[in-house]
Amino acid sequence: MKLLDTHGRHINYLRLSVTDRCNLRCSYCMPEQGIEKLCHGDILSYEDLVSVARQAVAIGIEKIRITGGEPLVRRDIIRFLKELSAVPGLKQLVLTTNGLLLAEMAEDLFKAGVQRLNISLDSLKEQTFAHITRGGDVHRVLRGLDAAEAAGFPPHKINMVVMRGINDEEVLDFAAMTLERPYAVRFIEYMPTLQADNWRDLSVSGSEILERIGKRYELVPYGSQELSGPSRNFKIKGSAGSIGIITPISGHFCSDCNRIRVTSAGMAKGCLLSGDGMDLKPLLRLGDEKRLREALRQIVAGKPDRHGLDDNNKELQPFAMSRVGG
Ligand code: GTP
Ligand code: 5AD
Ligand code: SF4
Repeated sequence: MKLLDTHGRHINYLRLSVTDRCNLRCSYCMPEQGIEKLCHGDILSYEDLVSVARQAVAIGIEKIRITGGEPLVRRDIIRFLKELSAVPGLKQLVLTTNGLLLAEMAEDLFKAGVQRLNISLDSLKEQTFAHITRGGDVHRVLRGLDAAEAAGFPPHKINMVVMRGINDEEVLDFAAMTLERPYAVRFIEYMPTLQADNWRDLSVSGSEILERIGKRYELVPYGSQELSGPSRNFKIKGSAGSIGIITPISGHFCSDCNRIRVTSAGMAKGCLLSGDGMDLKPLLRLGDEKRLREALRQIVAGKPDRHGLDDNNKELQPFAMSRVGG
């Protein structure tokens, strides 16, 4: 049975955040001082997260993406992922990570049933990477990419948030990675979720990115896969991988949006930008599966037709992406 929202969109994808904590503090995601961490008791237990997943699948969700913060910093995550991958009816279990812990964890993740990884990587240069992430080591991430490939994962999706004057000079280097390696490199328009005053100066549009790459390489459109997200994909002719642009600002993709979210604190949301959401914790405490399903259906029904990020008149409450899961 297809799960449709009131705008006729087919909702089959849940983004489930398992922690607000992270071992990096990327400048576009968190304020410099970091964010106040949620207490242990405010975070959904693994048991609760599995209940949410089961009921979501029962109403029509087919794909679950695990996000954070950084999901791999949560204790016993492998045990949880094993349990999640065994939920009957779930077709795809995937995870978004900053890659720092992949070298150690890739094999266990693969064995636990995670089918594919999206990895955030905003610079290939040691200093720029450390600047953006406020102290991260790019070599650890690069080792993680290789370890995950060796563990058996299909080609990774690499996410690069492009920021003018910070890492935009590396767009061609990232595009060139796909010549030899089968990665799907996706260039993401910077979203002003922290409400930085200078966000328009930082933001580079997807069309500008394509234009820059197009001057150097011949690009051909490349089809999207089933259950896929907002990326518009291309291929450099003859390359092993593909490139994509994710354009929440210049060309928002809301009309095809297929997803809902549940934050690590148990707030269900129809859209990344739709306020606080609905608290699922009381229903989880009651163990009421039927009402949990109804609540998730309600989130789908109330999913807004579009976000207002590009709308100057809409007031956006600043938030740290690590609280919501990207
Ligand atoms: P897949 O298609 O499953 O690979 O998912 P994805 O590309 O959406 O997932 P990923 O976690 O790699 O996110 C990539 C970028 O898209 C991030 O910057 C997200 O914040 C952004 N993004 C994902 N979903 C939404 C959404 O619903 N709205 C907005 N505005 N941005 C989103
Ligand atoms: N703008 C664009 N992308 C963002 N992400 C986090 N914050 C932002 C932002 N302000 C991305 C991360 C990660 C994904 C889950 O979300 O780089 O790849
Ligand atoms: Fe951590 Fe990801 Fe936020 Fe960077 S973008 S601080 S890696 S949650």
